[in-house]
Amino acid sequence: MIELDTSALDTSRLPTHVAVIMDGNGRWAQHRGMSRIEGHKRGKDSVRTIVESTRELGIPYLSLFAFSTENWDRPSREVNALMGLLRRYLRTEIKRMMANGVRVVAIGDVERLPSSVRRELEDAIERTRDNNDLTVGLCVSYGGREDIVHAMRKLGQDVAAGKLDPEDIDEATISRSLGSAMMPDPDLLIRTSGEMRISNFYLWQLAYTEIYVTDTLWPDFREAEYVTALADFQSRERRFGRVVDEAPQKVRAVRGR
Ligand code: FPP
Repeated sequence: MIELDTSALDTSRLPTHVAVIMDGNGRWAQHRGMSRIEGHKRGKDSVRTIVESTRELGIPYLSLFAFSTENWDRPSREVNALMGLLRRYLRTEIKRMMANGVRVVAIGDVERLPSSVRRELEDAIERTRDNNDLTVGLCVSYGGREDIVHAMRKLGQDVAAGKLDPEDIDEATISRSLGSAMMPDPDLLIRTSGEMRISNFYLWQLAYTEIYVTDTLWPDFREAEYVTALADFQSRERRFGRVVDEAPQKVRAVRGR
């Protein structure tokens, strides 16, 4: 059980969906003269902390950018280590996920994963499918552009088959065709390790998302900093491109909309 100090938060105005670009594992390790893989191992502990904190806060959706389409180009030793960590994480956390009502979904090209990882992932998805306190979207072999390409291909096939009139394609149609169809768009994106980039994460989904960037490296990102990010989010004025008085801020920015 995570001890969260929520005194800086208005717990009635939390985001519905938090997305995270977990960056800086390699640098964390290099600063300590360790191998990059040690950094990923420590990063796995931050994953557990953030999942459990999100559950405890009652935030219903969390997306974690765990492995990008570009990450396949890393040295095979590092790719294998990341795959092993993902498999072990799923295997060891499943009990806690069941106890905590956590549902796991995979977002990305899971066909590219080694079969042992895919099996573990499919098993976790199947076993947790009826849990409904927190949905964790594990973005693996994920790329935002690829996600859009797949969605367009699917819609094009439906049009070609006469099942869809192009005139009926709207934003909701596209959102429903993306890998993240089971979730609302993120309200808050957290990126660790200081980089001011989206790095081909949720390109469509982040249109109106508030972005919080911290210099903290992912292995050091734990519950206290998470609360700081959420408090910062609560200080923002979300306008969705409108003027202040018309902004549906309380409607779309916070839970219970
Ligand atoms: C970025 O750090 C992080 C990754 C590429 C992988 C994220 C993986 C984990 C946090 C561990 C396992 C995941 C789960 C879901 C259990 P980087 O290597 O790019 O760091 P750098 O920018 O300092 O090199």
